[in-house]
Amino acid sequence: MTTQETVPDEKPVDEHALRLRVVTALGAARDRTELLTSCVEEPELTAQHSPLMSPLVWDLAHIGNQEEQWLWRAVGGREALRPEIDSLYDAFEHPRATRPSLPLLAPAEARAYAADVRTRILDLLDGTRLEGRPLVDSAFVFGMIAQHEQQHDETMLITHQLRKGPAALTAPPPPATASALPGQTEVLVPGGPFTMGTSDEPWALDNERPAHTRIVPAFLIDTAPVTNGAYQAFVADGGYHDERWWQSEGWDQIREHGIEAPLFWRREGGAWLRRRFGVTEPVPEDEPVLHVSWYEADAYARWAGRRLPTEAEWEKAARHDPATGRSRRYPWGDADPGPGHANLGQRHLGPAPAGSYPEGASPLGVRQLIGDVWEWTASDFLPYPGFRAFPYKEYSEVFFGPAHKVLRGGSFAVDPVACRGTFRNWDLPVRRQIFAGFRTARNAEAA
Ligand code: AVJ
Ligand code: FE
Repeated sequence: MTTQETVPDEKPVDEHALRLRVVTALGAARDRTELLTSCVEEPELTAQHSPLMSPLVWDLAHIGNQEEQWLWRAVGGREALRPEIDSLYDAFEHPRATRPSLPLLAPAEARAYAADVRTRILDLLDGTRLEGRPLVDSAFVFGMIAQHEQQHDETMLITHQLRKGPAALTAPPPPATASALPGQTEVLVPGGPFTMGTSDEPWALDNERPAHTRIVPAFLIDTAPVTNGAYQAFVADGGYHDERWWQSEGWDQIREHGIEAPLFWRREGGAWLRRRFGVTEPVPEDEPVLHVSWYEADAYARWAGRRLPTEAEWEKAARHDPATGRSRRYPWGDADPGPGHANLGQRHLGPAPAGSYPEGASPLGVRQLIGDVWEWTASDFLPYPGFRAFPYKEYSEVFFGPAHKVLRGGSFAVDPVACRGTFRNWDLPVRRQIFAGFRTARNAEAA
């Protein structure tokens, strides 16, 4: 009789590769945080540039505090480093408008605190098994913290955009070579089931889970985001003065605040100018429109005889491969985003012209689904069937409901680590400071 060794069911986790991935993701996030907080003088870090935003120094210490809570305390089981500051950096305890009046850590202290936490975490990572507990399996919570820092980096970039004064940030413009628009302006996505969400993407957040089947009837969707040029036609046609196109809360908002164009646009001598990161320039017609509320996107779509895509339609257009019937990680396939696929990671300080990044197109030829501008969808932010809050209710669950609309795809300010075909963002439909635009859709004619 021969003895046989038991063959383990699962492949052993490659902990070395995982640790490397964690160190790289945390390092990239910190480099970006440092860039965003070192390019302005100290008074600009503690100032409030808009009541919609925190002072930059709040984001900085909040990043360190979340890392301390989740990695140092929850994973490492260590004592709190500075328990007295937890409540200052609790987003639910203090609304953004009130944060400047809190006794916040000064810039030098906030930097030193975040750096101290990071040093301890890199040390702790070396001695932590990355399996056996849901929190650390596949280094999930380390990935969550890297994504959290990148999300706040996008938030800080929004603060930079709202800030008055000369430019503090520079970056090369997006590549101009890829600006040829595809011939068609919309594509038909066939009806039928597809797999929405994910159960096996290791760093996907709770609201992206689990994978489930959705039946989505045939529809047509724009091959590129709506451009400034197209949006200007809506403005010029009196779109902001015609109640027919507007949901009542949106109509109230534009009347109350005298809104007549996207945020940061200004009319001068018969031309539209826009201010972006301290630079005022003519509105470029071929760029995706940015800084519109959900109500503005919805009104434009109605004026154009179209509608916003639902969240399920957006994800089907982005992930469904009609040839195989399976859902891809990204429109272009399963490969992580490269610079040729999408405008991500704050490599540029704005979206590329509509029709760019043909290499990043979906199987049906839809472009720029990932990167450039967040895209408003018609849908409320709701849990998928089988949703379970993990690891905390305050990430997603407390925001579920009709108050928030879903945005998809990510902007030029989203890092690849926080961007997937399944990634879900959400905001109030009145918000305009976020890097959001949209594309439109329509029902397919009954054959
Ligand atoms: C998912 C972008 C809506 O910034 O409010 C940051 C991400 N959650 N800290 C936000 C988040 C906790 C969140 N969004
Ligand atoms: Fe946060």
